[in-house]
Amino acid sequence: MRLITLISGLLTLVATVTAQDETGDHPNWPRWCGKVYESGYPSFEPGGHTTAPPDNGSTYLYVQFKPRYSIYLDGETTASFVVNAALSPWYGGAWTNSTTDGTATQPFTDLVFSINVAGNNTPLVKSSISINETGIEFEFDLSAFEPSLTPYDVVLSGSSVYEDHIDTAASSFLYLPDNPSGSATKIDNLNGGLLFKNAATNNSFVPLLPYGYYGWYNGSTVPAEADAFVHEYTSNGEGLNAIIALANYTDTNPVYDSMDEFGLHYMFDLRSSYKNLTETETRVNTIKGRSSLFAYWTADEPDGQQVPFNTTPAAQSLIHTLDPYHPVAITLNCQDFYFGAYAAGGDILMADPYPIGTSYALSKWGTTCNATLGDCGCDNCAGTVQDVPSRLDDLAMYESWLGRWPLPRFFNPQVFHGEDYWARDPTPGEARVMNALAFSRGATGIFGWTWPSSDVLFATHSEMAAVVTASPVREFLLGGKAEPLTVEGTELLDAAYWVQGERMMVSVVNGGYVDVNSTLAVELPVAATGFEAVPFGGLSWRLVSGRLTVDRLPAMSSSFIILGLEVTG
Ligand SMILES: *[C@@H]1O[C@H](CO)[C@@H](O)[C@H](O)[C@H]1NC(C)=O
Ligand SMILES: *[C@@H]1O[C@H](CO)[C@@H](O)[C@H](O)[C@H]1NC(C)=O
Ligand SMILES: *[C@@H]1O[C@H](CO)[C@@H](O)[C@H](O)[C@H]1NC(C)=O
Ligand SMILES: *[C@@H]1O[C@H](CO)[C@@H](O)[C@H](O)[C@H]1NC(C)=O
Ligand SMILES: *[C@@H]1O[C@H](CO)[C@@H](O)[C@H](O)[C@H]1NC(C)=O
Ligand SMILES: *[C@@H]1O[C@H](CO)[C@@H](O)[C@H](O)[C@H]1NC(C)=O
Ligand SMILES: *[C@@H]1O[C@H](CO)[C@@H](O)[C@H](O)[C@H]1NC(C)=O
Ligand SMILES: *[C@@H]1O[C@H](CO)[C@@H](O)[C@H](O)[C@H]1NC(C)=O
Ligand SMILES: *[C@@H]1O[C@H](CO)[C@@H](O)[C@H](O)[C@H]1NC(C)=O
Repeated sequence: MRLITLISGLLTLVATVTAQDETGDHPNWPRWCGKVYESGYPSFEPGGHTTAPPDNGSTYLYVQFKPRYSIYLDGETTASFVVNAALSPWYGGAWTNSTTDGTATQPFTDLVFSINVAGNNTPLVKSSISINETGIEFEFDLSAFEPSLTPYDVVLSGSSVYEDHIDTAASSFLYLPDNPSGSATKIDNLNGGLLFKNAATNNSFVPLLPYGYYGWYNGSTVPAEADAFVHEYTSNGEGLNAIIALANYTDTNPVYDSMDEFGLHYMFDLRSSYKNLTETETRVNTIKGRSSLFAYWTADEPDGQQVPFNTTPAAQSLIHTLDPYHPVAITLNCQDFYFGAYAAGGDILMADPYPIGTSYALSKWGTTCNATLGDCGCDNCAGTVQDVPSRLDDLAMYESWLGRWPLPRFFNPQVFHGEDYWARDPTPGEARVMNALAFSRGATGIFGWTWPSSDVLFATHSEMAAVVTASPVREFLLGGKAEPLTVEGTELLDAAYWVQGERMMVSVVNGGYVDVNSTLAVELPVAATGFEAVPFGGLSWRLVSGRLTVDRLPAMSSSFIILGLEVTG
């Protein structure tokens, strides 16, 4: 995904010229992520950094809400809103821990609120939420609503019990007509995953953890050859369930029939079209009714190329109008080059840090790479698997600094080498570890660049996909948030856990190149009652005195372990 290599400076020059007003004062310099990458140019501060808003010590009450799911369809009778009442140093209305009606005074511990359709006096929800609680779900009845392609605008009005403090927030929800012959994808605004439905799911929504590759198809118009492609892609067992079909051929190519027939979920490639809304419209209208379509993909590394800021939001908004049933994904490559402006064009954010086999000492362009100069294939990276979790952590931090509701995040693992940036492929261990670290940072989808890949990485990814896209692991990854877990040892040990009802899944990663040859015991955050399974990793974990224990943790290894929990109450 590095066009500059293929099309050299020309395309970049065009892109930077068009972006000059928005992204800096050096329009004609060859830049990637804002930095010049060819030797002979000066190093300069590229700008575009996302920073924490100033904190003057005040506390604000930041009330936000969203529908639990991005869309509801005719036939569904209940929906819900997710409400946050976070205390923030930056956003919301001023807050002090006190409320009074002039005579009585009490601590401001609960926000009493109602949610109404704008202009309507009958509340959909009337309830309260504790101050600094977030992610609380409140149901409402859909049966009074008519399915519509237009969103319903809703308003939350909240106050302290004595009403000396008022907060409002606005949102909207979509209650669409059903589309039984096509497909539909919901974004879960609470946990960041997807649900999908089509005729094959009997038109009921089921969790989808899409795992696949950006896959090149050769464009053959022979149906049997299209079938052969899909068959090959899915030939390693039940693993890969999705693809971003890299397809510079017409939307009526038989490969779409083959993918529909095999149930291979695809993200539709609009990267060569999204800048031209006429072409985008034609292509979306051709594809939108298909049964295995689950999302659109527009911008590929717009931040690297410095595409004008309004380009991706314009495409996203047009696609939503033409097809409200499927979300739009974009891929960001830079660590932080106008993150806020570029992330604004997607419903799903994909990040593609490719750290393996990179060198920061001297790039193919003849410069070193650092925060103000050069392009070495992975922006602001160290060239280790830990670049993946640090990138995903940073993106989450930028969203919180911007006061945004977090988008679903997909990780794009490196499954290639070359282009004079990357000296080698990741090893199978590195491939598994990068994914495991991405999951523990909340990734809910995986798309590797690119297929076909080496046989060994095809086998590795198919095997991991078979585990994470299916029960029970999928339910943990999509059904809650990953919580970090401290492991004593080196800083290259990384652990996280997810709780679902009476069970917990723990991920333990050794992200270093050295084995831990002594017994490792992980303290658990919740008392476990029983050992259930090791769905991934193949190591002999066991519970010893309430601690998750293994005799030896090999270098560059990853494990998922499922435990039973003590149920209280
Ligand atoms: C912080 O900034 C806000 C907004 O400018 C202002 O209302 C408030 O008084 C400031 N608080 C302090 C402690 O300076
Ligand atoms: C507000 O004050 C009450 C009573 O002192 C206390 O229980 C509560 O934790 C305080 N809330 C916050 C967010 O500090
Ligand atoms: C509010 O919640 C956040 C996140 O859980 C926590 O870090 C913070 O300490 C809480 N603030 C107060 C005043 O309780
Ligand atoms: C759909 O319904 C059919 C017939 O009732 C059933 O055999 C099949 O398992 C169902 N499929 C799903 C995904 O629920
Ligand atoms: C395209 O790929 C298919 C599936 O792998 C193969 O059967 C076919 O021969 C290829 N066609 C061309 C023109 O390369
Ligand atoms: C797609 O094909 C057209 C026509 O062959 C070509 O002009 C265009 O550059 C191609 N686009 C990409 C992204 O490969
Ligand atoms: C946009 O696409 C349409 C339809 O493919 C084409 O006719 C038109 O020339 C394109 N516009 C530009 C500016 O490339
Ligand atoms: C990046 O490297 C260039 C060339 O060595 C140097 O001039 C510049 O100060 C470096 N930038 C940073 C932030 O270290
Ligand atoms: C750990 O043990 C394995 C198997 O006995 C051995 O091959 C490896 O060299 C040891 N690693 C370290 C860091 O001691």
